This record gives sequence, C-alpha cells and structure tokens, in this order.
Amino acid sequence: MTKFLAFLAVVAAVFPTALTAPTFQIVKRDQLLASYDYVIVGGGPAGLTVANRLSENPKVKVLVIEGGDFAGDDPNVQIPRRVNEAYVDYHYKEADGEWMSEPLEAMGNRTHMVYAGKAVGGGTAINGMLFDRGAKSDYDAWKALGNPGWGWNDLLPYFKKSETFTPPTEEQRRELGIEYNPAAHGTSGPIKSSYQKFLYPSVKYNFAALNELGIKTSKDGADGNALGVFWSPNALDNVNGVRSYAVNYHEQAESRANYHILVNNYVHKVDFSKKGSQYTATGVTFSAGADAPVNSIKATKEVILAAGALQTPKVLQLSGLGGKSVLNAHGIKQLIDLPGVGFNLQDHPTAFTAAIMTNPPAGGSLEDLNDPALNATAWETYVNEKSGPYTIANGNTLGFIPLPQITDAKTKLAYLKNIFLQRPETYLPSFARSERTLINGYLAQKTALAGLLATKKSAALEVAGGVGGGALSVQKSFSRGTVHIRSANPFDNPKIDFRAFSNPLDMDLAVIAVRFFRKLQATKTLQAFGSIVVFPGPEVETDEQIREWVRATAWPSFAHMSGTAAMLARTLGGVVDSKLKVYGTTNLRVVDASIMPLVPSTHIQSTVYAVAEKAADIIKAAQ
Ligand SMILES: Cc1cc2nc3c(=O)[nH]c(=O)nc-3n(C[C@H](O)[C@H](O)[C@H](O)COP(=O)(O)OP(=O)(O)OC[C@H]3O[C@@H](n4cnc5c(N)ncnc54)[C@H](O)[C@@H]3O)c2cc1C
Ligand SMILES: *[C@@H]1O[C@H](CO)[C@@H](O)[C@H](O)[C@H]1NC(C)=O
Ligand SMILES: *[C@@H]1O[C@H](CO)[C@@H](O)[C@H](O)[C@H]1NC(C)=O
Repeated sequence: MTKFLAFLAVVAAVFPTALTAPTFQIVKRDQLLASYDYVIVGGGPAGLTVANRLSENPKVKVLVIEGGDFAGDDPNVQIPRRVNEAYVDYHYKEADGEWMSEPLEAMGNRTHMVYAGKAVGGGTAINGMLFDRGAKSDYDAWKALGNPGWGWNDLLPYFKKSETFTPPTEEQRRELGIEYNPAAHGTSGPIKSSYQKFLYPSVKYNFAALNELGIKTSKDGADGNALGVFWSPNALDNVNGVRSYAVNYHEQAESRANYHILVNNYVHKVDFSKKGSQYTATGVTFSAGADAPVNSIKATKEVILAAGALQTPKVLQLSGLGGKSVLNAHGIKQLIDLPGVGFNLQDHPTAFTAAIMTNPPAGGSLEDLNDPALNATAWETYVNEKSGPYTIANGNTLGFIPLPQITDAKTKLAYLKNIFLQRPETYLPSFARSERTLINGYLAQKTALAGLLATKKSAALEVAGGVGGGALSVQKSFSRGTVHIRSANPFDNPKIDFRAFSNPLDMDLAVIAVRFFRKLQATKTLQAFGSIVVFPGPEVETDEQIREWVRATAWPSFAHMSGTAAMLARTLGGVVDSKLKVYGTTNLRVVDASIMPLVPSTHIQSTVYAVAEKAADIIKAAQ
C-alpha cells in the first residue's frame, strides 16, 4: 500500500492530470483514492449496473477496475451490422493468437474459440444485440433450487428497470404483426430496446412456417412467454441507429464525483483478512500489465466480482477460493474450500444449418449487401436516415421451442426416461465424481431440467434464422464444463473445457433438432420458396450420421457462458448464497453471469442486467 501511495505521489508531481499517467487512466478523477467503499472487478454489464446504482448515494465511493478500454465512438461497436468487426478488436486473446478451448473430447478433440468481451461494457460492446428474456418457468426454477427472491415475479421489476423500450411503429404492427405487452417493458432504464426502423418483410415467414407445425406465435416474449415464435427487440437506440450497451450505465454515473472507473487495469486477486473462520475482503491487487507495477486498493465495505463467467472463477481461484486439487496444482494456498468455483459451466451448444431458396421471398435480404450498388444505397440510408440494413445486427425473430413440440410423444418419453436412467456422476468431469456436493447439486439441476423439459413451459431448442436455415441451439444442456486456472500468473487466460456434448442427452437433443429443422423446411410455407436443405445434406441420414455431423461442425458455445460460481446451497456445490455472497466470506459478492444456477433458454444479456439490478438492491439493503 505504501508503495502504491508513493507511486501516486510521483505521478501527481510529474503529471498534472492522470490522463497522461503512464500505467493507468482514471476517468473523471485525477487520482485514485486510498480506499473505496466498494471495489468492483470488471466493467461489463454486471459491473457497470451495480456501480451506477451504488453510486446513486453520493456518500458511497465506488471504484470499477476494468481490464479493457473504452470503445468510444468506434463505428464497429456503434453500427449494428458491423458486429463481427467489433468482435475482432475487443476480446481476450492469447499472445500468439486466439484464446482456444481445451480439446472437446465429445467432439473429436476439436478446440474452439473462447468468446469473452474486453472493453468497457464487456460482452455487450461486441454481442449480437438480441435483447430477449427467458420464460417464466426458467427463473422459477432458480427459486425452486433453493434461492428465495429469484423467481420470475421477483426479477421482472429488475428486467424493466434496466430498459427503455420503444414500441414498434403502427406500420410495423400492421405489416409485420409485431405486438407487445406494455406491462412487461421498462420506460426509463439505461438500455434502449427497440426495433429497427427497417426490417426485411421476409422475416414474417419464420412465423408462418413454425405456425404450420402447430407452434404458436407469442405476442411478447418479454412477459414470461418466451415460448414458440415471437418478435424480440434489440439493444438498440433506433433513433440514432446505434448499439445500446452497458456503457450507457456508465454514462449516467460518470458525472458523479463518487464514481471512479480505472480502465486498462487488471485485477490479480482479492485480498483478505481473517477473523474466526470467516474471511473479510479488504481490497484487491491489480496492475496495468504483466510488466507494470503491482498495486493494491482498499475496499472498506465490499469487493464485488463482475468479471464474467470465465474470469470471475479465475479471480476466485487466484485468491485461494476453490477446490483443493485445482489450487494445489499451481501452488495456491486454499483459504476457502469451494469446489463449485469454475465448475458447472453452462452454455448453449449450437449447430449451424443451411437451406437454399430456389425461389426466394421478395423484398431482399442481408445478402444484398454483397452487391456493391445495393450496398452503397444501404450505407447512404444508414448515414442519412439511421435506418436500413446497417441497423440490423443478428435479427429480431426468435423461435424458442419446448421439447414436446420438436418431437413426437414416444421420442420425448424416451428422452425424459434417459435423464433418470443416468447416474448423476457418470458424465461429470473426473474430479467432480468424488465431490459429493457437486454430484448432489448436479442431481438437483437434472431433476429441475427434467421437469422443465416435460412441459410446454420451457424451451429445449432455439431455432434462430428460420428462412434459409440458421442456428439450432441446445437450450437445456446436461453437459457441465469447467474453468480452471492455467497457472498462478493472473495474465494467463484460464483453461476452458466446455465439455459440450459430454452428456449424450445433449447429442440426442441435437439429433431431434436436426430432424425438426428438416420438417420445418418441408412446410408449405418454405416449400413455396423452393427451400432445399444443403447442410446437413441428405447423405447425413441416420442418427449416428447426424451425431457425427454435430461432432464435426457444431460450436460448443453460443457465448452464453454461465453458472461457474453458482447460486446454490453450499451442500449442492454452490459458491454464493441467495444474497450473492461468497460462502465463507463476510463481504465478497459475485453479481455476473457466473451466479446463474441454470442457464435460461434465451440470449442472456438482459438477464445479466436484471441480476445486477437486483444485486445492487441487495447490497444497498445491507449498507
Ligand atoms: C460474441 C458475443 C455475442 C453475444 N451475443 C449476445 C446477444 O446477441 N444477446 C445476448 O443477450 N447476449 C449475447 N452475448 C452474451 C452477453 O453479452 C454476456 O452474457 C454478458 O456480456 C455477460 O456479462 P458479464 O457482466 O457477466 O460479463 P462480461 O460481459 O464478460 O464482462 C466482464 C468484464 O470484466 C472484465 N474483466 C475480466 N477479468 C478482469 C480482471 N481480472 N480485472 C479487471 N477486469 C476484468 C472484462 O474485460 C469485461 O469487460 C454475447 C456474448 C458474446 C461474447
Ligand atoms: C481425444 O483425446 C483423448 C485424450 O487424449 C483420447 O483418449 C481420445 O481417444 C481422443 N478422441 C478422439 C476421437 O480422438
Ligand atoms: C459496403 O459499404 C461500406 C461503406 O461504404 C464499406 O465499408 C463496405 O466495404 C462495403 N461492402 C461491400 C461488400 O461492398
């Protein structure tokens, strides 16, 4: 600490404003304070939400430490259609290329890229901008797993609190049938959710095709009925045609003198003192880079982890919180025995299909942008009217379909029966097979998942893209992955083992999904456009051939990583309690996607905002 203050004094003497300081940048302040009430690790959606709400009280001093930088007005981040370009510049990498997963044993030992946003705004600076919620039953399952206060009715006010919704226009309602339930939406939150001024008319056939198979249109997925096929807004400021993201939370807070954010700095670990058997977080250790001076900063009330589902478990492990074998392997002294840290990694493994339309619907598609003349017009429309194809990131129509609607009754029953025939530990990673708490927690999750899958109240599969093919995304995965530190060096990315399809139930669902996709393309609606499924082609026919296609082509992740510091009882392998406090500590909380005990069937950013909004109220109530 003394070393750090001396360092600050030098900085202050040599540099009149810290913006020119060599190793850190402090936004809205020319110096870090010696201590803060709250130190928040990570400036993604969870961290910035909590920082904004806590700093509403001017007496409370809040610091966010973020590893990435501001994207500023980078057009790649701002312009929705440039979502892939944004990704290139703002994610965690390795020194010699991309951050790759561990070999995927159930997918032929392939490795796959690890998606993790690195910028102020975290993943929301680069994500696909889909802004949907899961169904009511998905959140009620969190509550039923032993978390009072975490059901749908408890969370709905927080979903709304984060959002300012702009309804579709009258014309969009008339022409495209976009409906909405005003009671489900917020009117004054930092994140703007809206429909583009321009939408391709062909997307409406996604509805007709699914309707033909008896899958109903839900009026508004945001009111707990994210089931069937429905319209979903994007995290979009549709007046200016730009991304709305967690930086909007920062913008509301940045004029407050009690809110500081330090960017391009990386937290190594949480510092603790001990009294009796309880640990108290006293601050964090951080630096601006592997060769930069190491500093520490004090937190007088709480340390709050919001580094995301891949990095939060890493910070916990580097701090001595985790399972013994994981820590011992790197010479880290165990402070608290928490085998659930970095366990329970969940995501939505996804296979990508393709169908060609020999007689495509009129009105154009994003492929038009490959034509230089049409592209030039589209660009002009964007610049002049903040409209047109450049405002489209990844679309607005979603199919989230329950198991009974993607297969026949016999296959469904066989699938559900197989859930119960498995011993819970059989498909867990080997270290977990001897941890009773992890096995019990997984058993509780399996039972909950079986209950959700048996009904039409929770989605088993996302069918994204519709006309022309698209993603088949397994929503209720039984495979569980791991996040384990690679070394004791805080600048090493952790080892990510998605373990996708390690439980054969997930592969069975993928087979069901591919058969369903073919049925969808065979509907009258899509046959009118001459749809031909080309991927997987007709030669991929038997169940085993489909499995092989999935192993060879699917992605283990849809960038919905979650569950790695789960909110569950400690006897179920949980890491945080229902107040998000880490077991064995008096004042360390986790507020990001790590806490989700089960990943909901949805794209998860709006859930992360809602979790963090609720976390802020929990923390305020404890003040
Ligand atoms: C490519 C991609 C596409 C996606 N598409 C969608 C979509 O269309 N719709 C949707 O709903 N969701 C989508 N998601 C998911 C969504 O963006 C994430 O679930 C969400 O961002 C997670 O929020 P978080 O706060 O838990 O973590 P993150 O967003 O990962 O934020 C964590 C932050 O902590 C920082 N950090 C990490 N470690 C440290 C450390 N040691 N010290 C300091 N700072 C640290 C990181 O730099 C980062 O800014 C997508 C995600 C990605 C990556
Ligand atoms: C994948 O790697 C593991 C461990 O090295 C090995 O046992 C297994 O046979 C490999 N699987 C395939 C399909 O190559
Ligand atoms: C489309 O126009 C934009 C803006 O001028 C340009 O950056 C992009 O390269 C063009 N794309 C194609 C395929 O012509």
